[in-house]
Amino acid sequence: MQEWLGGALALGLALLWLLAAPSIRKYISGGKCTSTAKLNGKVVVITGANTGIGKETARDLAGRGARVILACRDMEKAEAAANEIRTKTGNQQVIAKKLDLADTKSIREFAENFLKEEKELHILINNAGVLLCPYSKTVDGFEMQFAVNHFGPFLLTFLLIERMKESAPSRIVNVSSLAHCLARIRFEDLQGEKSYHRGLAYCNSKLASILFTRELARRLQGTRVTANALHPGSIVSELGRHLTILIFLGKLLTFFLKTPQEGAQTSVYCAVAEELESVSGKYFSDCKPAYVWPQGCDDETAKKLWDVSCELLGIQWD
Ligand SMILES: NC(=O)c1ccc[n+]([C@@H]2O[C@H](COP(=O)([O-])OP(=O)(O)OC[C@H]3O[C@@H](n4cnc5c(N)ncnc54)[C@H](OP(=O)(O)O)[C@@H]3O)[C@@H](O)[C@H]2O)c1
Repeated sequence: MQEWLGGALALGLALLWLLAAPSIRKYISGGKCTSTAKLNGKVVVITGANTGIGKETARDLAGRGARVILACRDMEKAEAAANEIRTKTGNQQVIAKKLDLADTKSIREFAENFLKEEKELHILINNAGVLLCPYSKTVDGFEMQFAVNHFGPFLLTFLLIERMKESAPSRIVNVSSLAHCLARIRFEDLQGEKSYHRGLAYCNSKLASILFTRELARRLQGTRVTANALHPGSIVSELGRHLTILIFLGKLLTFFLKTPQEGAQTSVYCAVAEELESVSGKYFSDCKPAYVWPQGCDDETAKKLWDVSCELLGIQWD
């Protein structure tokens, strides 16, 4: 009798799961960009577009007819992704270019070549990122996560901004994270030399991305260039590569995480949605405005971070 009851209960639970699974999956997949905007004649740059969210964002925008430049550090992976996107979308205007955000020389070379080769830039998606890498410094002496997730995109945007103003209306999309909720900008130890916690370093770099967006949007008022930040959700991607447990959890919990295509939706939304044409300085998640934690709304810190970033990068950006 007990065995029979146990069996019936297990069967009931399995049935319940089968019935509920599609709704749970739909909920997890999150917001979807429903805009059908076409991008023929538009030029797009996406950093870190050889895999994950960046590759899916590139595929979507290429499918809308844009000329898409995949700005990546590994040219073999970048060419493979560009080839795949060209085949899938039939758009031959998908080009791989070398960009290592951990090296200001590489960023300058990328921008110099881009400005020589492309007359316009309508959409810049600062997507590339690193998570939880062990402590290391870039060739320029910056802590790796803060360099790739903040200083690199900051310098790249600086070098391309005039072309974006000339091409306006144009949009800058910064892929940040909900992780900013745990963060603080540690001006007293920006390179993590006194103490380094790889989790907090990631959070801090993503807060920097939100503060950068905020200050950038303020400075771009009246130029018809907008800047918005976003949280893409929790996605199965290669981002957890520096921590074995994350790779394991990613495989175990795949059902409860977004696919890269689902994770790309908010980036695509910020890049193309008609209703965002003049929206700037905002933060989105699941294709709608999202809550920014107080440290992400601190204008004084945003200004200070701007000045410190300029100083450390040796640039003047008024
Ligand atoms: N996955 C998530 O759950 C999640 C959540 C919140 C926010 N995000 C953010 O979403 C963005 C995309 O992440 P993802 O999940 O798609 O991760 P991913 O699959 O690891 O892709 C990251 C991309 O960034 C590139 N990259 C890393 N370091 C670089 C460098 N120094 N120079 C140029 N490119 C570099 C990687 O290139 P290689 O392939 O050569 O390494 C890769 O193309 C990141 O900014 C991340 O912080 C992701």
